Amino acid sequence: MSVMRSVILAGSQNAWLRRRAPRFWFVRKSVSRFMPGETVDDALKAATALESKGMGTVFTYLGENIADAAEAAQVTDHYLNVLDRIRESHLKTEISVKLTHLGLDLDPELCYANLVKLIEHAGAASVVWIDMEASNYVDLTLDLYRRARRAYPNVGVCLQAYLYRTEKDLESLFPLGPAIRLVKGAYRESPEIAFHKKKDIDENYFALSKRLLSEEARHAGVRAAIGTHDPRLVRRIQEWTQSNNLGKNGAIEFQMLYGIQRTLQMQLAQEGWKSTVLIAYGDFWFPWFMRRLAERPANTLLVMRNIF
Ligand code: FDA
Repeated sequence: MSVMRSVILAGSQNAWLRRRAPRFWFVRKSVSRFMPGETVDDALKAATALESKGMGTVFTYLGENIADAAEAAQVTDHYLNVLDRIRESHLKTEISVKLTHLGLDLDPELCYANLVKLIEHAGAASVVWIDMEASNYVDLTLDLYRRARRAYPNVGVCLQAYLYRTEKDLESLFPLGPAIRLVKGAYRESPEIAFHKKKDIDENYFALSKRLLSEEARHAGVRAAIGTHDPRLVRRIQEWTQSNNLGKNGAIEFQMLYGIQRTLQMQLAQEGWKSTVLIAYGDFWFPWFMRRLAERPANTLLVMRNIF
């Protein structure tokens, strides 16, 4: 991991910075590259525009590690309301949640009860995605995911290719016929548990993608979402898909974040691939924004440019 990436990720957890940075206009302006706005209305507007261009969307309301049960209930109510707004707008938008935003740090049972409310409200056709957070949450997240998936068809989980353990986790989930979003991983993890070199992460990502798209996975009913902006990996996976006679639709879906690789997102949709954009909104964006900077330290130039 580069020093720059490590410093930015450490900053994302700094409470002082978290309180102060969002007050600066140049930080707010830089964030707007990755968010259509802070409100649900902003997200709905962006989703309507993307859907009209043939793309799917997923909403995430920014926040994590909340402090009390009342806040977890508020977040749950917020998502319940958002699911209603999505339905009223005739959009196919799904949602993606962080379990620590639903109360995982306070009580896993409370968190599970909140998650179930969302899964039931979303309806069987709309998957509720669970983000994967730092490595100390992986076991708990997968436990709650397994429990939810046994009870409901419409729940998916994110797995991170930088963790050594992910290969085993993926295999162990197959019998559940899961919906899985594969990403590289956005947190600061030690070399004891995670790959650090881009080349190693990319190779593991490719190997895991092939498992996700394998005949065995399709037989098990896996929904495979390839969550990366990496054009080289996207191309390799497309080529692999085609040389294995998998159709563009159904078996595979590409998911990217709003504002990143927009041309590629559009190009995939135009070529007939399922292309989905994850739209984040809300005012608690600081740690999330810092993770976006860490993924591409050149993004800090954007912040600099906005200062001047
Ligand atoms: P990589 O970082 O190698 O970048 C490849 C290329 O993509 C770069 O050269 C650049 O062109 C572009 N790019 C990537 N990131 C950029 C950025 N921030 N700004 C500008 N350009 C950028 N992580 C996690 O730990 N838990 C989760 O639940 C999720 N959820 C999630 C959902 C979806 C839909 C996506 C796409 C990603 C996530 N992530 C995540 C984040 C993920 O782990 C990872 O940090 C980022 O996707 C960056 O890695 P890439 O695969 O894009 O490749």
